[in-house]
Amino acid sequence: MMFDPYVLRKDFPMIANGIKMQGHPLIWLDNASTTFKPYPVIKAVERYYYEETSNSHRGDYDLCFKMDQEVERTRETVAAFIGAKRPEEIVFTSGTTSSLNLLAFGYASKYLKPGDEILLTEAEHASNVLPWYKVKEMTGCEVNFIPLTEEGRLTVENVRKSLTEKTKIVSIAEVTNVLAYSAPIKEIAKICHENGILLAVDGAQSVPHKKTDVADSDVDFLSFSGHKLCGPTGIGVLYGKYSLLEKMDPFMTGGGNNAKFDMCGDASFLAPPMRFEAGTQNLEGIIGLRAAIEYLQKIGMEEIEEYEKSLKKYAVEQIEKTGNAIIYNHDSEGPIVTFNVKDVFAQDAATFFNSRGIAVRSGQHCAKILMDFLGTVATVRASFYFYTTKEDIDALADAIAHGKEFLDAYF
Ligand code: ALA
Repeated sequence: MMFDPYVLRKDFPMIANGIKMQGHPLIWLDNASTTFKPYPVIKAVERYYYEETSNSHRGDYDLCFKMDQEVERTRETVAAFIGAKRPEEIVFTSGTTSSLNLLAFGYASKYLKPGDEILLTEAEHASNVLPWYKVKEMTGCEVNFIPLTEEGRLTVENVRKSLTEKTKIVSIAEVTNVLAYSAPIKEIAKICHENGILLAVDGAQSVPHKKTDVADSDVDFLSFSGHKLCGPTGIGVLYGKYSLLEKMDPFMTGGGNNAKFDMCGDASFLAPPMRFEAGTQNLEGIIGLRAAIEYLQKIGMEEIEEYEKSLKKYAVEQIEKTGNAIIYNHDSEGPIVTFNVKDVFAQDAATFFNSRGIAVRSGQHCAKILMDFLGTVATVRASFYFYTTKEDIDALADAIAHGKEFLDAYF
């Protein structure tokens, strides 16, 4: 298929239906937060409600069998999409946050001991910091940080220097959610494994934007969300090597994840992935996730990555040209530009952009430690997807060029 963002835009009702904000056509530059959904995803979710409503793994009738097949087909699709060896390595969760919490509570809190160490970076999202702080509280282990380069990049060299005898888990984003630097996860996995350390990867900002191959990178765990890759909200994935999932405890227990339990308080649990999916699954989310992945596969992840790289370059050039912005991540790989308009507080800038129909995120972006690293209290983040156009970026650059109006507008 020839990649053409203008053709693809017709697949998205939020664009095709001419949704407006503040009387202007909506310009959606908050894709790192969430993405629009194309018709095939919406139709797949509707199919569940119109034709297939039932529960999974709980009934001896046709509709339920069909739902079981939908769930397991999606697991196969996800496994193929990320290069997992087997579908049983795919656990459905409610999103990246829930995947990382499952890993922290189900694995780390079980195996880590006082004196052990978990390594993160200062650029991590709250979801890849706070669960590990809970593990620290529960086990007495330490949580330490691998230094970033001056620009905010994670290097193999700095990982190598930070590993100690005590390190048991390294948990990092492949692409960070504010600066969007891409970490060399294959090389990092290799060093971790040479030292008997597990590598957990937060893929929330990478899986939607580039080809993922866990068999090649050899990461031990990978978490990501459906809603950041055109899928429904409330569905996500924890990938784990099967031998590691087998050693993990469930974070939640209840119907659907146990083998048996009795009045003495004894209980045994199913094998992965069902062990981790207690309660009724998010079935419309699972069906919609498959539709979203199939949609992306039709476009091609390489095509998406290549186009977004060109958009990023264009955005940096156009924003730079205004002479009115401080950009924090000129050279990062991900489709995100993080900046401040000179002399304007980030949230005031975002409010002004809103008045022109432009949606960006402003503030700390759930990466509060990074703000100290950047030496600022808040930034504006414009983030793109394959349906973003140069015209969207031009509109943002034009708004930035009129930064002086911000103060006139608010005082
Ligand atoms: N994790 C999302 C973001 O970075 C919400 O905006």
